[in-house]
Amino acid sequence: MKTVETIRDLRRQMAAWRAAGESAALVPTMGNLHGGHLELVREARRRADRVVVSIFVNPLQFGAGEDFEAYPRTLRQDAERLEHARADLLFAPSSEELYPRRREAQTRVEVPGLSGILCGASRPGHFAGVATVVCKLFNLVQPDLALFGEKDFQQLLVIRRMTEDLCIPVEIVGVATVREPDGLARSSRNGYLTPEERCRAPALYRILRETAAAVENGDRDYPALEAGAAQKLASAGFEPDYVSIRRAADLAAPKRHERDLVILAAARLGRARLIDNLRVMRSQAGS
Ligand code: PAF
Repeated sequence: MKTVETIRDLRRQMAAWRAAGESAALVPTMGNLHGGHLELVREARRRADRVVVSIFVNPLQFGAGEDFEAYPRTLRQDAERLEHARADLLFAPSSEELYPRRREAQTRVEVPGLSGILCGASRPGHFAGVATVVCKLFNLVQPDLALFGEKDFQQLLVIRRMTEDLCIPVEIVGVATVREPDGLARSSRNGYLTPEERCRAPALYRILRETAAAVENGDRDYPALEAGAAQKLASAGFEPDYVSIRRAADLAAPKRHERDLVILAAARLGRARLIDNLRVMRSQAGS
């Protein structure tokens, strides 16, 4: 695997592969790679001739007082894991390389509506930061496809919408959440948990499953289910941000007849802000 840090070197390599008629998949990450990221790389390997992984802790998507400084930076270990997973190219630019202008002067990509709800309501500007860096990466790498984890379900929808609205010719592939054996979704932020919090953390997924089972069994009182799930999270020691049952296609509030739903939750546990979600296909019998 080759590592490049500059836009010039990245473009040169991509041009050579394109000239040879090879397809390319991009896996954008912020590093501190875990099993979830490696699954994205494996899926990319299955779908394209060349696999490019970017590692960049994007300052634009962190708000004031968030964990930008503390975010784990483990480039050497990440490069070893990528080598092992048979990635072809690691793009690891500096902040100055990607954002040569002052932060306030940087052009941004806004996805209205979707970016302002749920995690976007709690983290103003977060999804504009994500859409901006992903748009830049798409312009730099010009991949045929790009892969993102479904754990960040809202992010996945924001990126799909951005790609569609800006007519960017990149196929967006969502990859199923990778979980620990006890159900906790793999996340770089799990590393913030103390051993005691780590033991409590799987309650988030358990509560999502219980809520999903109630929906599947015909319960349509979504506000009551959301409030009940938030209450359970609080009893398990979390500080819930939201639990919300939404239409999976666009995160709108679901109408009674709609069947393809997603339950999304965000909650703080100690220093970690954990997010997770579960798709629910409501049975026709329950309508
Ligand atoms: O999901 C992430 O790790 C980041 O939000 C992404 C997509 C790499 C953009 O910085």
